[in-house]
Amino acid sequence: MQYSDINWNLIWQESRRKKSWKKKKSTDWDRRAASFAKRNINSGYVDSFLDLMQPQKHWSVLDVGCGPGTLALPLAERVKSVTAVDFSKAMLVELQSRTAQEGIANIQPVEASWTDDWDMLSIPRHDVAISSRSLAVQDLQAALLKLNNYATKKVFIADKVGSGPFDPELFSSLGRPFDSGPDYIVTVNLLYQMGIHAKIDYIELEQSKVFVSRDEAVEASRWMLEDLTAEEEKKLESYVDARLCRVDDNQWLFQRRTPVKWAFISWDK
Ligand SMILES: C[S@@+](CC[C@H](N)C(=O)[O-])C[C@H]1O[C@@H](n2cnc3c(N)ncnc32)[C@H](O)[C@@H]1O
Repeated sequence: MQYSDINWNLIWQESRRKKSWKKKKSTDWDRRAASFAKRNINSGYVDSFLDLMQPQKHWSVLDVGCGPGTLALPLAERVKSVTAVDFSKAMLVELQSRTAQEGIANIQPVEASWTDDWDMLSIPRHDVAISSRSLAVQDLQAALLKLNNYATKKVFIADKVGSGPFDPELFSSLGRPFDSGPDYIVTVNLLYQMGIHAKIDYIELEQSKVFVSRDEAVEASRWMLEDLTAEEEKKLESYVDARLCRVDDNQWLFQRRTPVKWAFISWDK
């Protein structure tokens, strides 16, 4: 077998078919928009992404799968303009309520999918295109090509390493099988076959996190699980309790064993 015979796009598709956490439709993301925003806006991940990205004042940035504006909002202060694309209406509502609150005028929200015709939607080429934790696509090659085509200077992607934000130990404590699906190594290999030799950095988040209450700590793990039975709910709480330490009345320290790790993939055009 030759290296060039490997069909990385197919490997991506096969691996996605087996993954446990399947969120395909925009309505799936709509339901999670508010809680996603609460957990992710102002998280340590944002600072790490921006440190590696080194935004420039004169850049126009296209943020694909922008969610509630995790990166679009802090980027708006640092660059000329941001076009924030997402197929979830509720995510864009979260974004717009924050831009209104903070008086941000240089973010243009666009409701669109990876697979829509962006030319028809009048999305222009930007200096920079980013996809942060949003490569939730069936055709990875088409998405990478599109991102590359819509950027004139640089592309930045954050893709999960191994289980990414998921905690495999949580799944096993509930007796649920867990397959995290494809990770960044498929993306990097596919880029290589497309003639793009990307630079790879890593964002590794703290394994311990402070919460204001036990309930908040339980909520921060619950998002990974769907349709919990009463028995599983108890197991989830025991799982969290076993890793939770009360610091004082308003501080609870939660420690997980598997770190959350992202690959920060970038290239110049
Ligand atoms: C994990 S969130 C990431 C949000 C943000 N970029 C961040 O890093 O916090 C994934 C986002 O991608 C969006 N998304 C998923 N599939 C999409 C698709 N096919 N087209 C456009 N957006 C999509 C979801 O609605 C969601 O807002």
